Amino acid sequence: MKAIYDILAPAKLNSFLHVVGRRPDGYHLLQSVFMLIDWFDTLHLELRQDGRISRSDEAPGELPDDDLCVRAARALQAAAGCTLGAHIHLIKRIPSQAGMGGGSSDAAACLLALMRLWKLRPPPDRLQALALQLGADVPFFLLGRHAWVEGIGDRLQAIELPKAHFLVLKPPAGLSTPAIFASPALKRDTKAATISGFAALGPEQIFEFGRNDLQPVAQALQAQIGVGLNWLAERGLQGRMTGSGSAIFAPLPLGGGAQLGTSKPADGWTARVCSTLQVHPLADW
Ligand code: C5P
Repeated sequence: MKAIYDILAPAKLNSFLHVVGRRPDGYHLLQSVFMLIDWFDTLHLELRQDGRISRSDEAPGELPDDDLCVRAARALQAAAGCTLGAHIHLIKRIPSQAGMGGGSSDAAACLLALMRLWKLRPPPDRLQALALQLGADVPFFLLGRHAWVEGIGDRLQAIELPKAHFLVLKPPAGLSTPAIFASPALKRDTKAATISGFAALGPEQIFEFGRNDLQPVAQALQAQIGVGLNWLAERGLQGRMTGSGSAIFAPLPLGGGAQLGTSKPADGWTARVCSTLQVHPLADW
């Protein structure tokens, strides 16, 4: 068994995201299709015998308590009564506060790698509960497949999607997920769709289905999103926000991304052509 792993943690895009209700505890009931894409963070993990969790990509001193990788490691240690530790080095490439799930994907990849390093096999329902406590998107990244997602992000069904390419744009400013969900202006009563209805769509319609209910709230808070959507429309592309933003994306016609090159709406934006993944790099873990 190896004592060092170097692994990739992919980002996600939400092809659509509907808010269909709200639980008494304030969490929102969603319907969404989560797609894995080829934009990755890299994680390096090494076994530590002394039980400590350390990181070399953070400033020296106390590790931040809100860091999802550290929280994932500590939660797994506690759940399994494990006395081993790990050293983690994260190379961050997925933009933060973008709605692309980077932090959740890092946490899921940490859980998978640490289960190998520490030779743990928690029961699936225990692991799912632990993942959900870390964040609503973490169970999706543990599943490691494109998925139809319901509940607060905890009810997942793997689905097949056609290979597709997207222009992904991240404006300079990010957005905070709790702030978007807390907005009084958020529409929370979209009529529930069905997975069978979605599965019956042709390849041309899949990425046009539905909308992102968080987008109007995000756009009102962050005008850069509207600028980006207009920039896409001027190029004949239909853009949409992913998750709680602030990144937006547009499906590209087959072979149609090349002429866009690395052009972007303005300085400070990140632009990247991404493709759906066939499988998560850790799918067989
Ligand atoms: O679970 P996560 O940390 O990603 O969620 C951040 C915040 O977003 C939550 O504290 C909650 O306010 C909001 N949220 C929500 N409904 C969801 C997911 C997140 O209200 N399904």
